[in-house]
Amino acid sequence: MPASRLTAEVLLAHAIQRSREYLYAHPEETLTETGWIHYGRYLHQRLNGTPTQYVTGRQEFYGRMFRVTRDVLIPRPETEHLVEAALERIPSGALVLDVGTGSGALAVTLALETRCRALASDISARALAVARANAARLEADVAFVEADLIEPFAGHSIDVIVSNPPYVALSERESLQREVRDFEPPEALFAGPTGLECYERIVAGAATVLRPRGWLLLELGFRASGPVQAMLGSGWEDITLIPDLAGIPRVLAARRA
Ligand SMILES: C[S@@+](CC[C@H](N)C(=O)[O-])C[C@H]1O[C@@H](n2cnc3c(N)ncnc32)[C@H](O)[C@@H]1O
Repeated sequence: MPASRLTAEVLLAHAIQRSREYLYAHPEETLTETGWIHYGRYLHQRLNGTPTQYVTGRQEFYGRMFRVTRDVLIPRPETEHLVEAALERIPSGALVLDVGTGSGALAVTLALETRCRALASDISARALAVARANAARLEADVAFVEADLIEPFAGHSIDVIVSNPPYVALSERESLQREVRDFEPPEALFAGPTGLECYERIVAGAATVLRPRGWLLLELGFRASGPVQAMLGSGWEDITLIPDLAGIPRVLAARRA
């Protein structure tokens, strides 16, 4: 099905507060005036570049529906590779920290899929409000902390750190799709002049908060695998790169020596 048709169906279903399946099950139904007004407004927003997920306020991630607003990055399917890599490495009862939680997609998913104790941080209070609401609605037990990356957790003994940090270089701003550049929160996209700044701070900070043999799992931006591996140095072992469906290294896993 063409993407434009799918979008039109999603927006129409949203306008009448029904599922897409309902549209096919009730082809005889006509739109009310209110339905037309809502549908027209949603189409207009989409034509102006607003991502569909910000119009509907929803995005599925790892089989669960998350609420999204323009205060959070729309969770991406690629990030499910990070979930899979974490699920293979989280021991029972582990303390897991999600750095830069955004909508809470990673922390909530890991809390619900394992018996871990989940902590999640973000620098954005507005993102944390969305994440807290997602955790409450999905009944996930996650402790949220407003924090600048890892520094506030120094002295903890964390078993697994997961992070999908901002990794776009400021110089790449103009090359981003309009939907991303003009609508997603800049603090979720841009790390700094090189795009590697958050990785550098997370790798350095992880050594101070992970217990020995604890795991660091990072989502990687395009071409980030080499530089991030180089940041790790000698204090890490079992370093693994996990490719996405396009064969691009998408997740780096490393175990603190
Ligand atoms: C790429 S988004 C990832 C969101 C979510 N984890 C996901 O995968 O969908 C990065 C997140 O990191 C947060 N962030 C950016 N700089 C940060 C910092 N210095 N400390 C903590 N969080 C930060 C942003 O607010 C944003 O929510």
